[in-house]
Amino acid sequence: MFAFFKKKKEPRPIFQPLGTDMHCHLIPRVDDGSKCMEESIECLKTLKAVGYEKVIITPHFQYPRFQNDEDDICRRFDELKQQAGDAGVQIVFAGIGGEYRIDTGFQARLEKPRFLKLGGKYVLVEFSLHQQMPGCDEMIFDMQMKGYDIILAHPERYPYLNVFGSRMEQLKNQGVYFQINALSLGGFYGEEAKRRAYYMLEQGWVEFMGTDTHNTVYAQALINLTHDRKVEKTLEKYDFLNKTI
Ligand SMILES: [Fe+2]
Repeated sequence: MFAFFKKKKEPRPIFQPLGTDMHCHLIPRVDDGSKCMEESIECLKTLKAVGYEKVIITPHFQYPRFQNDEDDICRRFDELKQQAGDAGVQIVFAGIGGEYRIDTGFQARLEKPRFLKLGGKYVLVEFSLHQQMPGCDEMIFDMQMKGYDIILAHPERYPYLNVFGSRMEQLKNQGVYFQINALSLGGFYGEEAKRRAYYMLEQGWVEFMGTDTHNTVYAQALINLTHDRKVEKTLEKYDFLNKTI
């Protein structure tokens, strides 16, 4: 009956080894992420409190749901930096990127590419969470031929991809970088995604870890995750490339 008074857990800085969070949705009202500047600022404070020194913001580019424009996103990013600075947020902004859904809009985008790249180098892409887009591999190959380095966001979250089969190996052989979500390791997206994430780590397929923070629910889950000893050990055990961007 006293559950209402249960104390919230304090954040622990277990993400220090990563240095940079390279996947989050903290520009207000441009996608399904943060709803207002106050929420963005609270989430950014949480990222700092759990150990991140730097952050790269990656709003969705997804057709037709989030038809964002790069110039507009850059303007909003400048506003976020300004407001976060005024609010005393200590985290360093290491740039603006995007999370590009491979869909019919992406196909059109390839004709006249202008991507917001992470660290001026990587393009973060995601697949549909429900089904594979026809021609998906060809589009990735096309991008690579144009000289882009591709990071696939949260490969553990696509149930139609057989993580334990050859499909994942094929993507790795194709030179696609993998970024898992930190919260997957705590079961935030279900037990199957958690199992897949750990399996991919064990295979040595994972180069990046992101928080994919959308709002304060994610931020609180991240704080809770800092009390998971297995996650803490995982962050110490594997070398991630987060610090290099
Ligand atoms: Fe995301």
